[in-house]
Amino acid sequence: MAIRNLRYEGDPILKKKSREVEVIDEKIQILIDDMIETMHKYNGVGLAAVQVGILKRVIVIDLYDDNGPIAMINPVIIETSGEVETEEGCLSFPNKFAKVIRPQNVTADFLDREGNTIRVKAKDLLAQAICHEVDHLNGEVFTEKMIPGTLEYIEPEENN
Ligand code: NI
Repeated sequence: MAIRNLRYEGDPILKKKSREVEVIDEKIQILIDDMIETMHKYNGVGLAAVQVGILKRVIVIDLYDDNGPIAMINPVIIETSGEVETEEGCLSFPNKFAKVIRPQNVTADFLDREGNTIRVKAKDLLAQAICHEVDHLNGEVFTEKMIPGTLEYIEPEENN
């Protein structure tokens, strides 16, 4: 496993649409492992492959709960309901946070890393994380969806 280099705000790749994964081969397995390691290193709750420079429809999410890290290949949101205001950040926008309106509930289909088709009925944080990461696969970032005027920059703490 390896930490991959993150792509940051202003990098044109973040505006690009990612392509579907056609074959779940060893390269995809390594990508998923590296994405999980990279997400954990930077204390993220989600990461899309485009954020490490790979335009493939792969996302990882970890809410640091009993589910552990989840990898989703070719995720498709098929239904949403409800509306909540969330405060979001993104590993590609260090120290920036903004309020975004997201669905409360999301039903999504995806392939797991073994190629099984899974349907997840997610709510709250997991639902919002899926939306945020699927947006990345479509070249969209949270600052384009934020409630105007809510962007905050939080000064990082000094590491001595
Ligand atoms: Ni993000």
